[in-house]
Amino acid sequence: MPAPPPFDADTYAARRRRLMEQLGSGVALLLGNGESASNYAANHYPFRQDSTFLYFLGLDCPGLDAVVDADAGRTTLFGEDPGLEAVIWEGPQPSIDALAQQAGLDDTAPPGALTETVQRARDAGRMVHTLPPYREAHRRRLGALLGCKPEATDDHASDVFIRAVVAQRESKTDAEVAEVEKALDVTRRMHLLAMQEARSGAVEREVAGRMEGMARAAGGETAFPTIFSERGEVFHNTPSAQRLTGGALALCDAGGTAPSRYAGDITRTAPVGGAFSQKQRAVYEIVLDAQEAALSAIEPGVKYKDVHRLAARHLADGLKGVGMMKGDPEEAVREGAHALFFPHGLGHMLGLDAHDMEALGEDVVGYDDETTRSEQFGLNALRLGRELKEGFVLTVEPGVYFIEPLIEQWRSEGRHARFIDYDAVADYEGFGGIRIEDDVLVTSDGGRILGEPIPKQPEAVEAAVGN
Ligand code: GLY
Ligand code: MN
Ligand code: MN
Repeated sequence: MPAPPPFDADTYAARRRRLMEQLGSGVALLLGNGESASNYAANHYPFRQDSTFLYFLGLDCPGLDAVVDADAGRTTLFGEDPGLEAVIWEGPQPSIDALAQQAGLDDTAPPGALTETVQRARDAGRMVHTLPPYREAHRRRLGALLGCKPEATDDHASDVFIRAVVAQRESKTDAEVAEVEKALDVTRRMHLLAMQEARSGAVEREVAGRMEGMARAAGGETAFPTIFSERGEVFHNTPSAQRLTGGALALCDAGGTAPSRYAGDITRTAPVGGAFSQKQRAVYEIVLDAQEAALSAIEPGVKYKDVHRLAARHLADGLKGVGMMKGDPEEAVREGAHALFFPHGLGHMLGLDAHDMEALGEDVVGYDDETTRSEQFGLNALRLGRELKEGFVLTVEPGVYFIEPLIEQWRSEGRHARFIDYDAVADYEGFGGIRIEDDVLVTSDGGRILGEPIPKQPEAVEAAVGN
């Protein structure tokens, strides 16, 4: 049986009512995800419902779609009652009426009626609002429903609908924050295990596998593929059969979800064997200082792009202190020199997706008319730049990395030689990378780190590593 929605039916009804007001008129299509084959048709990837569908209906099972009719003030759920075959193979399943009731709807229709419903709206010249598809199956379905080529479905996406969804999902209610904190409960346990196991000889993927098992065992899933590696400078390194080496740094970026699919996204970096070297500790403290500065700067009305720049200035200042950067840190950051060490953004929104709402378009979620995305290397990777509002949940994740091919290229070009001492940087070959990431709620007057604390001060991290 699919888990029931995490919130009561009134919550979903209120969200849809607000959506109808935002849209003003027309019908909005909410396509639910289907099963997705991995290596043969009957062997599926674990089912993952579309997050916007979850937001407006809460129904975490395949084979459903919905149409929100803003003029009629009605939402119809399309799907079918489970047949005997489904019950034989998958056990008792809720009827479509039971699902509709859970989501606060009383109008249902068989799946085949969707085409006719959309066609009727189109024939009447009504606006059919759709979201940009991110699965090929939806591209094809939308193409057929809208009478366009599957490749053209992005162009058909409704700006009003996209912005309406973002405007609702960006501000989290207390109940949603509680779900993120449930995700952080399991995420915290995953990280405590990772630290405990950060010892010489531990196999990366064995540790990562046990961490991911914890997320599944708690009724959720991993919010994204787990990173647990001493090659922390490779951002999306897949845990390998590699054994950890004493004295290296193990970077762990991992998150579990709550059963409701709200996500956690935390990074910690621990010294393999339990003691930071002097050099490691110095860089660790630079990253920690940047993160603490960023955390203190979070409040409504502040642009996250400015918080990113503040963190970058702290990094540049610290790196100057250890001799790797030089000149005026403010100017170095303005020119983008710090991005040699920190080529990614300070953070992103978090919610039902680890990169919340990214399927709707990064810039719609993270930027607006007042704050546009920079083209400068490093800052261009910042997913969230705009002014913060109370209720936003976001990540704060500065880092310092030694990415050999990047260093090699910049050094050979003499890029930002005014601000970077390449000879000093060469001493850090093989260092890896350090990132520290927490999840934060923007409150009325600041930011609150969500979840129970996870060791972060260098002594606490050292103490958490098993002997
Ligand atoms: N783990 C994905 C991220 O931190 O953005
Ligand atoms: Mn992360
Ligand atoms: Mn993140």
